Amino acid sequence: MAKIVIIDDEPAMVEVISTLIRDSGHDAFPFQSSKKAIEELTTISPHLVIADIKMDNLDGFDVLRECQEKFPQTPVIMITGYASVETAVDAMKNGAYDYITKPFKVDELLLTVKRALDYQATVKENTYLKKELKQKYRFENIVGTSPKMQAIYNLIAKVANTDSTILIQGESGTGKELVARALHFNSNRQHRPFVAINCSALPENLLESELFGHKKGAFTGAVADKLGLFEEAQEGTIFLDEINSMNQQLQTKLLRVLQERQIRRVGDTKSITINVRVVAATNEPLQDKIKEGSFREDLYYRLAVIPIEMPPLRDRLEDIALLANHFLQKNAASTGRDPLKIEPLALEAFSHYPWPGNVRELENAFERACALCEDGVIRLHDLPPQIIEQSASARPATAEGGMTVGQKLDDFIKIQERAYIEETLKYNSGSREKAASMLGVSMATLYRKLDQRPKSKES
Ligand SMILES: Nc1ncnc2c1ncn2[C@@H]1O[C@H](COP(=O)(O)OP(=O)(O)OP(=O)(O)O)[C@@H](O)[C@H]1O
Ligand SMILES: [Mg+2]
Repeated sequence: MAKIVIIDDEPAMVEVISTLIRDSGHDAFPFQSSKKAIEELTTISPHLVIADIKMDNLDGFDVLRECQEKFPQTPVIMITGYASVETAVDAMKNGAYDYITKPFKVDELLLTVKRALDYQATVKENTYLKKELKQKYRFENIVGTSPKMQAIYNLIAKVANTDSTILIQGESGTGKELVARALHFNSNRQHRPFVAINCSALPENLLESELFGHKKGAFTGAVADKLGLFEEAQEGTIFLDEINSMNQQLQTKLLRVLQERQIRRVGDTKSITINVRVVAATNEPLQDKIKEGSFREDLYYRLAVIPIEMPPLRDRLEDIALLANHFLQKNAASTGRDPLKIEPLALEAFSHYPWPGNVRELENAFERACALCEDGVIRLHDLPPQIIEQSASARPATAEGGMTVGQKLDDFIKIQERAYIEETLKYNSGSREKAASMLGVSMATLYRKLDQRPKSKES
């Protein structure tokens, strides 16, 4: 059943068309005033609009313009009284879907309506398909074969296709959003919208109207009705990111929404039933917030029907090599060049670092290294200073230190020498000239040892 808005200043005409529309099984919203109709558009969120071209005040062209702005996917059929094809063609040039001339035959009207609705359904589906292609976050985008990640995949596969509310907990950068998308795109809601909102990104009052929408005039600045994200996500999934930052008042409202499966737009008295799967994420343990009294325990239990705990990267260091490869491929795809390589020493440095920013930090380190890298191979000195530092302190610095045995002497010397050079460089704030002088070698030797071509300008 489609929602169809009919606008004509001739009462008899609105009446006839509305009756025909209702008889064919759709919902008719008749208006004699185009101004009133335009005001109500957002509330109705129509699948199709039928408007007379010639009306007093705002005419059919105004309606068309308004529709295209607010509902670009909603087709508009124009009615023209004079069989004046010229105006009708003008309307089509301006984006009207079709036109009918008065007087019209019933079949003609119904056929045009049917075609417009089919068209609307296809456009809508195509938009989702396109979006879906762009955001196709299935399992293959989540990299890692460690037992901890395998447990996550198993859990996603098991619960994706249920309607249970899910709470994803984990430190920043552990892949919570990737998992939320994987849940959606592996569910039977996958052709419906996935709507994400970061609850910490908006001031509290704005967040409420963003989530639930508002009525025109509900507060200063509410100049028109606004559709909330819960309604936009109808039949799909809403991802409430950083739910930990939601204030108590809104927590109470959200709890009610989860219990009643109904929302109310800010300033409205009527409730709207929603069918939306809720996935929430937090980068702070909610249990701590409950203890300190800033998060409602009852809401926590509503959200965490199925909890998913994302492991920090330092607990699955065995995934780093795969992730490294993934980011090198990603970089190659975006630059159109062959994938860069990474020297073993640099790769090893990754596993000596605690990764407080998790996979996001690793990804950023790669982006930086790919940009700095000069000869197709990422080397230790291309990595961010804090990683080099950690890896240097993790490696035995003197012969008395606890040494890793099993290396070839040559490799051992190279690694020690390299670490020492990196340290000296760091001490001299990256100045190769000063480092060479301190090490008592020529610039040429330093460059050879660093295995890179001299830069034209000293840093
Ligand atoms: N397992 C993984 N495989 C591949 N890429 C990953 C993985 N985990 C995270 N990433 C990448 O790291 C970045 C951060 O991931 P995501 O945004 O999902 O993390 P988050 O947990 O939501 O972080 P935050 O709490 O900071 O919002 C993204 O670019 C994502 O593609
Ligand atoms: Mg996130």
